[in-house]
Amino acid sequence: MKLWQKNGDADAAVDSFTVGMDREMDLFLARADVLGSMAHTRMLAKAGLLGEEDLRPIQKELRTIYDEIADGKFRIGDGVEDVHSQVEHLLTERIGEAGKKIHSGRSRNDQVLVDLRLFLRGEIEALCHDMEKLFGLLQELSEKYRSVLMPGYTHMQVAMPSSFGLWFGAYAEALTDDMQMLLAAYRVCNRNPLGSAAGYGSSFPLDREMTTRLLGFDSMCYNVVYAQMGRGKTERIVSQALANIASTLSRLAGDNVLYLNQNFGFISYPAELTTGSSIMPHKKNPDVWEVMRGKCNIIQGLPNQVTLLTSNLPLGYNRDLQLLKEVLFPAIGTVRECLSMAVYMLENITVREDILHENMYDYIFSVETVNRMVLDGMPFREAYRKVGLDIENGDFNPERTVVHTHEGSIGNLCNDRVAALMQQTVSGFGFDRVHRAEEALLEYADGIR
Ligand code: ARG
Repeated sequence: MKLWQKNGDADAAVDSFTVGMDREMDLFLARADVLGSMAHTRMLAKAGLLGEEDLRPIQKELRTIYDEIADGKFRIGDGVEDVHSQVEHLLTERIGEAGKKIHSGRSRNDQVLVDLRLFLRGEIEALCHDMEKLFGLLQELSEKYRSVLMPGYTHMQVAMPSSFGLWFGAYAEALTDDMQMLLAAYRVCNRNPLGSAAGYGSSFPLDREMTTRLLGFDSMCYNVVYAQMGRGKTERIVSQALANIASTLSRLAGDNVLYLNQNFGFISYPAELTTGSSIMPHKKNPDVWEVMRGKCNIIQGLPNQVTLLTSNLPLGYNRDLQLLKEVLFPAIGTVRECLSMAVYMLENITVREDILHENMYDYIFSVETVNRMVLDGMPFREAYRKVGLDIENGDFNPERTVVHTHEGSIGNLCNDRVAALMQQTVSGFGFDRVHRAEEALLEYADGIR
């Protein structure tokens, strides 16, 4: 029986088509749904819309359901449309009449909005921690191999000396920008849509400040119409943040595939982290990095999918929005998995220390040679010409020392400053305040037990 059914059964085909993957997707939202209901019912009681005698069993039972979710025991029944219906059904089944009162002053439309925002802020936090791990490892590798040189390319042609310190450090710094965008997405998520009801507010005197505070949101989505419009926009912003991370990972993966190639041979991994061929006995393939590159390239299309799904929707709730869940939720898991696989692989990387000793890299030192002549007093253009002619005549015998001292160069990576930048962004999230709010909701319900 659906929440909205008054009599008669729904058509089975319509039911299965419209519910689609929602039962699976809504399991992701279950924890958030219970937290939302804890806050909503306390607010109803405070506003005099729910008696204390009803609030107590509701809070107590919501706390039990919360534990069932944490223990993996929560299911959305076959005949039940979504998580919101399941929680209400459970409450009514277990505590009777009081369960039927929790939905005053809200709609599943704002309920799913609040669930999504609570869920997404939690996922963003997890992503942030995953990124911090990769960031820390990249910085560590950058420091460890700071003086190991490797070729730098332009136009995919050997260009100038680079280093493993620069290579690893570059990806660490890329993550600082990705983190900025993740923080922006977090800020967008962490606002309270509850109280917008079906999208036009309610005639009950709801205390939206109270639910905002109880749920640890930074502020509310004030305008009830905007609160509903925020669905799709929020997902797009989160998917853009995911796409940034994916772009960094995809390039890192691409580099690894290239540098593992025998013609480069800059890096290697233990055999067990590579994969073999069914026909060629010698193969040690970089499948992990290839699959990561592929997955991350798909993720980069995610903002487009969200955009297309939500383009030109009329104002107010539209059921199309439900499909955002199945586009976005698995993608978050994919990015998290890729972040942890990147750490898993890089913890085992070996870098070749003597790459630039090979003669094929002689010309990589051409600019170093020109610069040395300039430091000795020769005008740049003349030195450039002289070295160019030496190269053409086969008279170029470079000194293989590299002295770069300016900020961000081989000899002065500024990893500490990059770390400070990352730290500053991460501290902007303020996860502690959100944890305290969520813990307080649970403690309140515990107190009632
Ligand atoms: N499963 C629905 C969704 O994700 C929940 C909201 C349903 N609202 C409605 N008016 N049918 O959008």
